Amino acid sequence: MKKRIIALLAACSLVLSLAGCGQTGASSSAGVSGSFTGTAKGMGGDVTVTLTLENSVITGCEAEGKDETPGIGDKAIEQVTADIVKNNSVEVDAMAGATITSDAVKAAAAAALAAAGLDAADYAGGAGSAEPAGDTAYDADVVVVGAGGAGMTAAITAADAGKKVIVLESQALVGGNSVRATGGLNAAETEAQQKNTFEEAAGVEKTLEAAKAYADNETITQLAAQVQKQWDAYQAAPEGYFDSVELMELDTMIGGKGINDPALVATLCEGSAPAIDWLAGIGIEMPSVSSFGGASVKRIHRPLDAEGKVVSVGSYMIPKLEENMTSRGVQLLTQTTANALLTDESGAVTGVEATDKNGNTVTVNAKAVVLATGGFGANLEMVEQYAPQLKGFMTTNAPGILGQGIEMAVAAGAATVDMDQIQIHPTVQADTAALITEGLRGDGAILVNAEGKRFVDEVGTRDVVSAAEIAQTGSYSWLVVDQKMADASSVIQGYISKGYTVTGNTAEELAAAAGMDEAAFATTLETWNGYVKAGSDPEFGRTSFAEPLDTAPYYAIKVTAGVHHTMGGLVIDTSAAVLNENGEAIPGLYAAGEVTGGVHGANRLGGNAVSDFTVFGRIAGESAAAFVG
Ligand code: FUM
Repeated sequence: MKKRIIALLAACSLVLSLAGCGQTGASSSAGVSGSFTGTAKGMGGDVTVTLTLENSVITGCEAEGKDETPGIGDKAIEQVTADIVKNNSVEVDAMAGATITSDAVKAAAAAALAAAGLDAADYAGGAGSAEPAGDTAYDADVVVVGAGGAGMTAAITAADAGKKVIVLESQALVGGNSVRATGGLNAAETEAQQKNTFEEAAGVEKTLEAAKAYADNETITQLAAQVQKQWDAYQAAPEGYFDSVELMELDTMIGGKGINDPALVATLCEGSAPAIDWLAGIGIEMPSVSSFGGASVKRIHRPLDAEGKVVSVGSYMIPKLEENMTSRGVQLLTQTTANALLTDESGAVTGVEATDKNGNTVTVNAKAVVLATGGFGANLEMVEQYAPQLKGFMTTNAPGILGQGIEMAVAAGAATVDMDQIQIHPTVQADTAALITEGLRGDGAILVNAEGKRFVDEVGTRDVVSAAEIAQTGSYSWLVVDQKMADASSVIQGYISKGYTVTGNTAEELAAAAGMDEAAFATTLETWNGYVKAGSDPEFGRTSFAEPLDTAPYYAIKVTAGVHHTMGGLVIDTSAAVLNENGEAIPGLYAAGEVTGGVHGANRLGGNAVSDFTVFGRIAGESAAAFVG
């Protein structure tokens, strides 16, 4: 290819005109040399690539895409630019899970070639993969399958216990669904809660009232009695902020409609504040506390950026978990898909068999296995198999979340629970399926229907809010925020820059931009702001308020319901051991995170997934390390 380009350039005696690019370059009979830029549209805005050419060979490639998704887009930029140089080609593999950013880098590189007077078609060879290296085998104490939040937490914990750990990840980048988590981590009785002072009486009272509907559920009844006592004592002598492990358990059980495994719920909630401390110890801080759906009090803990703005929890945590894993010498094999658990004659699990991206078999012999492959929310056939009513729904899930860990464990004798309990999230951006965080509602946003009217307590549980939304005209709604909220949240600023919002300087202008009835929406907004000031919502009983929505400009995002979380999965005990159909632990097999069932019952509360993967990831890592001995 190089020879052809050189010949072409020599024949044409090409003199490059680089005006407008601001680039420097020169052609000679040997080819084009210099720096050339090109731009293409990425996930959040423009991606600009600068190619360095020496005699028409790509010797350097740098990309800048400041609006790409942190923790995902930046990884794609790193990989794709490196592959472009390695292969002297712009037709390299896209990074799975980050195809929009990857494609933007490739398109911008092609534009840079055009700016150099070269034809990108001549740089289409040599793509991607290294030569197949052949089958490989590894030995480890613990092999973790899945490098999302649960897997990396387990790996760090097992490594801290002195074990040799290998992590397999089917995708090219770590993070799974966890890197997409936007909200935060629910934890009760934390120091951060005590640094805030809120009045939340109505939320606690409302939960105690809701518990009465579960009179036949012994766990809920007992928890409600305990919380009532705590609440009475607090009201008699209020000090600090009221929350308790038992109240978090009660919220989680009521959210899960009482079918959760109470022992797992207790483990989750008791481990939540220690999880915050553990994360702080490895450099992951969650100082902001706010409201989320189904929580009686402000309990979701969120990271802040240097300016004090709330940032996405997943894209903040995941790179830090990866750094912690790497610094402990954990070996990570990406693009390596586990297919089967290895077992010995007694049925104990002794490792994993996987396939790498070139089709080679990768065998990891290990004394213990932690499954952390996530649920099956991106496997829409499997979703439909267990919940036919969800046929045709969009999904917020990462591409690798296909249920493979559940299938592997079942083949090794594991039991499953609640497989038909699949959560839909009510605020999924209608065109892109991007998750629009529930945190916005906790921070004061409202939902209005096509007629410009509120229709639900926006901070109710997801099943209730989704069902109410589906019942509206067109089965969608508009999530409304104002400039004051946008100023406090880099998450909202990201939504604006990604083009998810319509905007208006007045309620009427916003309604016109969204195609809602202008007068009806203006009345809705005025009425809502009155409720906020009064701290009471007589229409829908919302008990969580922030600031009135009164600072122009106003923004609205069109949202609809999408598959978000699969509550069912492998049956585990409180040590994260995977159980068989007889309730016995399968020796050497542990699981954590969304691959498991029982923690969240029929409906997970927002913020409990990050608690789940941190609490049970730690337990799985500790248990696996202890099993290894
Ligand atoms: O809406 C959200 O930010 C989702 C959070 C969660 O699923 O926990």
